[in-house]
Amino acid sequence: MYSLAFLSLALLSLLPTSLAQTHTNCDPLTRTDCPVHTALGTNATFDFQKHQADDKVWNTTNGKVNFTPDGAQFTIKERLESPTMQSTFYILFGRVSSIVRAAPGQGIISSVVIQAETLDEIDWEWLGSNTTSVQSNYYGKGDESYGGRGGIHDMVDPTADYHNYTTVWTKEKLEWWLDGNIIRTLKYEDAKDGTRFPQTPSTVRIGIWPAGDLQNPDGVREWAGGDVDYSKGPFTMTVRSVYVEDFTSGATYAYGDTSGNWQSIIVTQGESEAAKEIYTPHGVSGRWNALPKTTRIAIIASSLGGLALVLLAMTWCCIRQRRAGKKERIIADAEFAKGENELMDYRRHMQNGGFAMQGGVGHAPPQPVYHLPNNRF
Ligand SMILES: *[C@@H]1O[C@H](CO)[C@@H](O)[C@H](O)[C@H]1NC(C)=O
Ligand SMILES: *[C@@H]1O[C@H](CO)[C@@H](O)[C@H](O)[C@H]1NC(C)=O
Ligand SMILES: *[C@@H]1O[C@H](CO)[C@@H](O)[C@H](O)[C@H]1NC(C)=O
Ligand SMILES: *[C@@H]1O[C@H](CO)[C@@H](O)[C@H](O)[C@H]1NC(C)=O
Repeated sequence: MYSLAFLSLALLSLLPTSLAQTHTNCDPLTRTDCPVHTALGTNATFDFQKHQADDKVWNTTNGKVNFTPDGAQFTIKERLESPTMQSTFYILFGRVSSIVRAAPGQGIISSVVIQAETLDEIDWEWLGSNTTSVQSNYYGKGDESYGGRGGIHDMVDPTADYHNYTTVWTKEKLEWWLDGNIIRTLKYEDAKDGTRFPQTPSTVRIGIWPAGDLQNPDGVREWAGGDVDYSKGPFTMTVRSVYVEDFTSGATYAYGDTSGNWQSIIVTQGESEAAKEIYTPHGVSGRWNALPKTTRIAIIASSLGGLALVLLAMTWCCIRQRRAGKKERIIADAEFAKGENELMDYRRHMQNGGFAMQGGVGHAPPQPVYHLPNNRF
């Protein structure tokens, strides 16, 4: 087993030193013991065509996101799949530009959402059933009780091509930009005198969900443009890149009281953990991707070399065991198979792009929570 030990050593340098825990479902409007948020505090471009997401910066909270030369792919193939990832960092006002090709398909919703633990929310949503529009929306403190929040904007087929969807969020107003043109503005005072204006530290969430699944209420399926026909899948949303700029510079954000007002947010100065990770990656995939290609090849080669060594050792072992007797040989064979399987697992991880995909393995992922479209517009 010395080869496995060797392999572990080779891999050790790639493993995360700790697994940061930043997200909880703690409502800052009713509780004062919620965890402090990691700020972004700077700006960053995430080019998913070149790099898969660093799992210390982007947490896959549901399903699996595939990173391909086209970008990050969010795919629904089986019923009720809804791959989603969200930033581990928060922004307090800022700019988010994503280059997106929405998923086609009746009942399929692609989305890019800016969302706070207070349920302040700013949305881009694409209905796969509608190839001539995109929807904008917002919620202040999760309040769905009044209309006029949603917007529907005509555009050329968002499922056919990539477009630049940008949100500019300041304490005075919210702007939605499509390919460099402003298509909607919401002023602070127009969101119920500001009381429903999004104004608390928020993550960026990207995902796809089958709103038109038969298990969902009629209203949801109608809003989604009809029921999903899974036989027409898989349905894929592709995100080439996301640019995120935090208009506040700081290391962390905390709630000073339960008002949910931006004035109550306590900002600690300094470089945030997220910024450090982005500029010097230590997360599993981040570290793997940050390695020069030659190093990556060397590590793969050495683990394949390790496999050869184990095979050699096992063969030698088996020959000896064969001599030693049939009974021992059976035991040795079993061990051989076990060792080989372990190695194959390592190899599979390596070849999958560096054991980067976490989340969802071995336990049912939590179902995302969605707003029902009652009073949506
Ligand atoms: C990532 O998401 C999972 C599932 O929602 C959650 O349990 C976990 O705490 C999150 N991790 C981080 C670092 O946010
Ligand atoms: C992003 O941040 C860097 C460093 O703070 C700065 O030099 C650059 O101009 C910023 N880019 C944009 C588009 O704001
Ligand atoms: C798409 O949305 C626009 C705007 O609401 C609407 O006029 C059009 O009829 C919709 N198309 C389909 C196919 O539902
Ligand atoms: C996307 O649009 C925004 C707003 O017009 C612009 O500032 C940004 O540079 C664009 N991003 C890309 C990648 O073209």
